[in-house]
Amino acid sequence: MKPTFAITALAGSLLLAGGVAANERTEDYLNTLTELGYPAPKENQLVHIPPTMQDLEASDMHPELKRVIRRGYDLFTDTQQLRGENVFNNMNCSSCHLGEGRMPFSAPVWPAAVTLPNFRGKNGHVNNLEERIAGCFTYSMNGKPPEYGSDNMLALAAYHQWLAKGVEMYPEKPIYGRGFPAPERPEELSYANGEKLYQEQCAVCHSENGEGLQVDGKTVFPAPWGDGSNNWGAGIVRVFTAAGFIKNNMPLGQPLSLSDQEAWDIAYYISNQERPQDPRYTGDVKETLEKYGPTFHKHSLYGQASEATGETLGDHDNTGEKDFLKPDTVRPRTFE
Ligand code: HEC
Ligand code: HEC
Repeated sequence: MKPTFAITALAGSLLLAGGVAANERTEDYLNTLTELGYPAPKENQLVHIPPTMQDLEASDMHPELKRVIRRGYDLFTDTQQLRGENVFNNMNCSSCHLGEGRMPFSAPVWPAAVTLPNFRGKNGHVNNLEERIAGCFTYSMNGKPPEYGSDNMLALAAYHQWLAKGVEMYPEKPIYGRGFPAPERPEELSYANGEKLYQEQCAVCHSENGEGLQVDGKTVFPAPWGDGSNNWGAGIVRVFTAAGFIKNNMPLGQPLSLSDQEAWDIAYYISNQERPQDPRYTGDVKETLEKYGPTFHKHSLYGQASEATGETLGDHDNTGEKDFLKPDTVRPRTFE
């Protein structure tokens, strides 16, 4: 099967699986994934194929709950409706979490609903689901999270929790297809090869200068770098995460078509470009790097010389479209 057709088949089986028995549906879904080249689940892994919006309509949940989950879905797939309030770049949540947040190997979002509250190394304290969602608003959306407990935050959390329907809380088994699993890092990374491949295979959608494409306030193609992209604090600025995202998901409709070396080279090329400042910036790039290097930026190129320009990456006060650096929701918790 050609990848593009297989992806359509996958989307189709996601949509049409409503009436099919759960185990049959999981089997079909896994077959489509392995045909595309994704690894089959290992014996000890937890496999969960989240329900679809059709399943929601068919369920006997309270109509008001359905309305709230629909609202969460709508915010997740069209987050641009919060532009200027909570979102200050061109991203939707679904720009990185493909298949409406359900796709394995595209950081499906439901695991957060069953593994949190838990300690998170990124901010050094125990986070719940709302705070995890807030993290992607702060960094990936270069924004300001909706208030904890607000209608929009509740709706988004409800959508995540509903996607996790039927999964036990705090599962002990590792989760199949979680995150953006990175291919093994090659010994050498080539900026020149990354640039060449990006211009050949990616620029047609994401544009030569990385700004993507917006039409009438809707994001057609998101921006992998620049002011319309995620900021320097986002998970995808880690080169291995970008390589994992690209290998498993891009070019759109042709996942796993790049070799590991190619995926890493393109990730390295993108990681060498500028983007809005990390909200944790102390006012000095070196100092920020010292503080967040050990837990985070040792995996990114923040604070290093760009192969594109020779300038130190992240050495600027540019916060993109927003007029603040750090939203006040980002604060330590102490439980004292
Ligand atoms: C620029 C890309 C990007 C965008 C946009 C984005 N995220 Fe994420 N998200 C990530 C990355 C990277 C991770 C970490 C994946 C990993 O662990 O490998 C992540 C992780 C998550 C997780 C945790 C998943 C888990 O396995 O526990 C949740 C929940 C989440 N994001 C929700 C959201 C929501 C809600 C939005 C929109 C407000 C959003 N994300 C927008 C990149 C993005
Ligand atoms: C046919 C158009 C198309 C091509 C070609 C394509 N992409 Fe994408 N890309 C998209 C779309 C659309 C999304 C957002 C996902 C969605 O909305 O379904 C996306 C999302 C992304 C993202 C996450 C969001 C962001 O902008 O940072 C990255 C990174 C990315 N693509 C990189 C690449 C790379 C690297 C290539 C080339 C190997 C590539 N893309 C080729 C359409 C494309």
